[in-house]
Amino acid sequence: MDLRFAIITCSDTRSIEEDSAGKRLAELIEERGWTCASHVVVKDEIDRIADAIVSACDTDAADVVLTCGGTGLSLRDVTPEATRSVCDREVPGIAEAMRAYSLTKTGRAMLSRALCMQRKRSLIINFPGSTKAAEENWEAVADQLEHAAEMMAGGGHA
Ligand code: MTE
Repeated sequence: MDLRFAIITCSDTRSIEEDSAGKRLAELIEERGWTCASHVVVKDEIDRIADAIVSACDTDAADVVLTCGGTGLSLRDVTPEATRSVCDREVPGIAEAMRAYSLTKTGRAMLSRALCMQRKRSLIINFPGSTKAAEENWEAVADQLEHAAEMMAGGGHA
């Protein structure tokens, strides 16, 4: 099954050229034969992140939106708040699985406030902003994304 992804890196300092974590996520998506429909960098502002999520879901028709960065404790980290502002319901198991897996790599994983939420037929997952951390969180969730997309599209359990 092809899956369409959108990547939204949330950073006050990074340009798209410097966004190595976003580029690495695009590679990981393509390695599985899936499509990266869009990749943008936006400032750490709730409204800008929220607008980018809406555009990824409603215009780019992404099955899965990966935000990257802005999940920590700095007062500029507002990605979870932006996500909640434009999503319908929470999918807590995915965020729990990311933290559980990440805690086997570093205790600092408990400092992530990442959410996973659903907006209609799109899944929005908050990833951390470093390349290493983004790769590790991808390892935690990638195998379950096809089934998640099938369920959002109205499919039952095989
Ligand atoms: N998860 C994994 N798998 N590996 C990591 O190195 N870093 C943590 C955490 N999650 C990390 C991780 C750290 S140090 C922070 S502060 C939080 O993610 C939030 O990162 P962010 O502010 O870049 O979103």
